[in-house]
Amino acid sequence: MRPFIAPSVLAADFANLQQEIEMINQSDASYVHVDVMDGIFVPNISLGIPVVEAIHRHAEKPLDVHLMIIDPDKYLQRFKEAGAAHITVHYEACNHLHRTLDEIRRLNCKAGVALNPHTPVELLKDIIHEVDLVCLMSVNPGFGGQKFIEHTYTKIENLKKLIVQTGSKAQIEIDGGVSMSNASALIEAGADILVAGNFIFTSKNPIETINNLKNIA
Ligand code: DX5
Ligand code: ZN
Repeated sequence: MRPFIAPSVLAADFANLQQEIEMINQSDASYVHVDVMDGIFVPNISLGIPVVEAIHRHAEKPLDVHLMIIDPDKYLQRFKEAGAAHITVHYEACNHLHRTLDEIRRLNCKAGVALNPHTPVELLKDIIHEVDLVCLMSVNPGFGGQKFIEHTYTKIENLKKLIVQTGSKAQIEIDGGVSMSNASALIEAGADILVAGNFIFTSKNPIETINNLKNIA
């Protein structure tokens, strides 16, 4: 299966965001991945609601919004209004994940759950049927350009088993350190969506890089 590609604008040139989004529009990317960081859940601050709105004004692809924030419930509605199509919250940041996912779906967004590298996929056993997308972090969240964690392959395989066993329709997204050197192995292991930031935006021809990731055998 060909993967869905979600370029992460965290690695884009923020001073030329419109141009960067137009580049994504012209590519075979399926989504625009937008990383929101609060400086509390992760040791970095990235962008917030006004920037999501600005991206949405130019994007022709749905926005895949990854919230690396504590207390995401407070802001779900506002991210929806800003243009999010997918809202992904962190398992580690939600005391009442079932309620949070319900609210995301009530807003007519796809409901995603992200797991940090140390969080076992088995913890999703009693919620997987309510999840549209599981984002497996293949780096520690907070920064782009980090090294891919190899244990992710085992997590993909275990998550795939859980999804098949429970009849869940959840898609598997991989976020962090994705490049041409691991993309086909990730797809083979069961990944549906590949997020890539630095690999795309530091390449000479980002459109070609996106299309190559998409068409990887
Ligand atoms: C990390 C972010 C990722 C990041 C990926 O906290 O969630 O989406 O932008 O960047 P690369 O592909 O450069 O590892
Ligand atoms: Zn992300």
